[in-house]
Amino acid sequence: MREIGIGLLGLGTVGSGVVRLLQDNQAKISSITGRRLTIKRVIVRHPEKHRDTKLDGVPMTANIEDMIQDPAVQIVVEVMGTIQLAEDYIKRLLQAGKHVVTANKDLIAQKGGELVDIAAKKQRDLMYEASVAGGIPILRTIVNSFAADQILEVSGIVNGTTNYILTQMNQKKVSYAAALKSAQDLGFAESDPTNDVMGIDAAYKMIILTQFAFGMSLKLENVTVEGIDKVRLEDIQQAQSLGYTIKLIGDAKEIDGKASVSVGPTLIANSNPLAAVQNENNAVVVKSAAVGNTMFYGPGAGELPTANSVVSDIIAVTKDIGIGITGNTFNSYRHQVAIAPNSA
Ligand code: HSE
Repeated sequence: MREIGIGLLGLGTVGSGVVRLLQDNQAKISSITGRRLTIKRVIVRHPEKHRDTKLDGVPMTANIEDMIQDPAVQIVVEVMGTIQLAEDYIKRLLQAGKHVVTANKDLIAQKGGELVDIAAKKQRDLMYEASVAGGIPILRTIVNSFAADQILEVSGIVNGTTNYILTQMNQKKVSYAAALKSAQDLGFAESDPTNDVMGIDAAYKMIILTQFAFGMSLKLENVTVEGIDKVRLEDIQQAQSLGYTIKLIGDAKEIDGKASVSVGPTLIANSNPLAAVQNENNAVVVKSAAVGNTMFYGPGAGELPTANSVVSDIIAVTKDIGIGITGNTFNSYRHQVAIAPNSA
C-alpha cells in the first residue's frame, strides 16, 4: 500500500488527538483512502520537553525548514495555536507544495482569502473544518448540503469555553474564575483565554461561517462583539427565575446585501433547544429558504472531537492526492473563501 507522509506542526491537545486517531483508526482510514497515513515529522517549539504522546522514531525538531525540505511530508497539519508564526509557516509550506490542514480560526478568519489564493495558485489543498465548532462538520455541510438552498441566517453557540463557564455557573453556582480555570484544565480554552471570554474566538468563527453562508468577507471590526466577562452569577440566576438561560450567541444574517454579524450574551428561553446545549458543546442553527431551521449539535472543543475534524480533512486531501486531482476541481469547502460583493 502506498504511503502518504503527514507532518505535524504542534503537539498540544489537538496535535496529540490527531496522533491518537491516526494510530487507533489506521486500518479504517487505510481502507477508505487506499493509502497508509504515516506521521513523518513533528515541529514543536521545545523538542526537548517531555511529552506523553509517543512517536517512536519520528524526528521532532524546532526548525520549520526541516519540514519544508522533507520530501516525505505531503500533508502538514498546523495545530500550533499561534497566529503570526502559523501564517508564515503555512505560506512557506504551501509555496513549497505541501497540502495544509489547520484548526486555526484566528488565522483563517483574518487571512483565509490570502492563504486560499496561494493554495489555489500552487494547486494545493488548504482545509480547516476544525476551525469552527470543533467536532461539528459544519463547513463542509454548509458547502455541500446547502448548495441548492439559500441560507438566510446562521446562529448559535460556537465557543465551548464560554458555554462551559456559563453552564457551570448556572448549574453548580461556581464563580466565573473557578469555571474558567476548570475549562483551561480540560483543554477547551485557548492558551490565553482572553479571546474566548471576550467573544473574539466566537467572532472569528462567525466570520468564517459568514463567508460560507453568504460569500462575504468581514473583518473583526465589522462584527458587534460582547464577551461574558460582565455576566454575574446573579444575572444567571435571575434569568433562570424568569425561564431563561444566558448563552453567548453568535448570529449572522444578510440584510439589504450586507452581512450583519454579532456575538453577545443573550437570553434564551428554556424551551429553545439552544438553552439545553451544555458545557463545551456547540450548536449551529442554519435557517434556509428551502429547508427551514436545521440545528447541528456536538462538542465544540476538546482533544478528540477537534482532532476528528482535522483527520477528516487529512482524509479528504489524501483522497484528492490519491485520485490524482489537485487544485480547483475538488468539491470541497477549501475554495469557498470568496470576496464579498457587498462586504459590511
Ligand atoms: N477555545 C475554543 C472554544 C476551542 O472554547 O470553543 C475550539 O475552537
